Amino acid sequence: MARLVIIPAMLDPHTHLRDLDWSHKATFASETAAALAGGYWAVFDMPNTPPTTTDPVALARKQAALRAAAVCDWGIYYGAAQSGNMESYDDVAGQVCGLKIYNNATTGNLLIAEQGQRAHHYAAWPTGRVIAVHAEDETVLDILQLVRQYRKRTHFVHISTAAELDYLRAAKEEGLPVTIGVCPHHLYLTEADLPALGSFGLMKPGLKAPADRDALWAGLQSGLVDVVESDHAPHTLAEKQSSQPPYGVPGLETTLPLLLTAVQAGRLTLERVIELVALNPRRIWGIEAPPDTYALVDLEADYVLERARLHTACGWTPFEGLRVRGRVRETWIRGRRVFADDQVLALPGFGQDLFRDSVC
Ligand code: NCD
Ligand code: ZN
Ligand code: ZN
Repeated sequence: MARLVIIPAMLDPHTHLRDLDWSHKATFASETAAALAGGYWAVFDMPNTPPTTTDPVALARKQAALRAAAVCDWGIYYGAAQSGNMESYDDVAGQVCGLKIYNNATTGNLLIAEQGQRAHHYAAWPTGRVIAVHAEDETVLDILQLVRQYRKRTHFVHISTAAELDYLRAAKEEGLPVTIGVCPHHLYLTEADLPALGSFGLMKPGLKAPADRDALWAGLQSGLVDVVESDHAPHTLAEKQSSQPPYGVPGLETTLPLLLTAVQAGRLTLERVIELVALNPRRIWGIEAPPDTYALVDLEADYVLERARLHTACGWTPFEGLRVRGRVRETWIRGRRVFADDQVLALPGFGQDLFRDSVC
């Protein structure tokens, strides 16, 4: 028996859609289609792939390409560059969902490792828009110092350890304007899965111990964690199977089924899932959903995740073979049925930029 429920206007604030000079990995067309298949209304795209979104020309190129190709709504992050691109911040801030600062090494060349440089970026970014940070382990404490000093709203992406959660719980108790995102791969996989997964289990931050995973679940249940974000980071099968596999895993089409499986298992309520994937991201980034925008899901659908059914161009998933319960049947945006029966129904260009010319 099907049990259909509505999840209102899901927003994934952490995706790497690729395209442009990395269109061999994935394209705006393929990955926004994957977003619709995952039940999402909108996705925010990260700045770390070439050409990095760190100057107004690169931003304009990404905006134009997304406008032509996207089948879901979107926002674009601007990236903090080592070269010091702060003088462009006032001009671009009104057109983007936020600033991304990479504070530890990962895919791309946007690492800002020096605390003094980070401070220059924090000081220059206009207060109206979120700063999203990649910060692992003690780097979380370094960033919290900047939040304390500059009081700029900061979202900590892909938090993966019990210790990081402790730092951020204390920061929230202190009243600092911080929010926390966690990813499905850190909730469902641990380092014990690495031998079986091989390079499909490689991502930044890496898989952690079962105790860390358990702390993330406790954070979801208690309300400490604000967002479940996919960190959708497609790389080709050939790249992942090479001798130097890049970091990152796809996630747009598996995030909601994995969370609905947790609802069925009694680990989370459906209301909490809706907060984590829809209400909280919208609140944190200050955007309203358009009318008649939702995913229609069947909570009873019982099936095995398999790459053949995915829309992402990368054609693999670290969750291959996992049994889940909960399937996206349809996705609706602005009263239009844009995904149904595993088919994308929206045409390229249907998607809208949620931030262009918005007031910052
Ligand atoms: C991301 C990518 O490939 O762009 N990789 C990853 O392992 N998460 C970058 C990132 O989010 O750090
Ligand atoms: Zn990252
Ligand atoms: Zn990422």
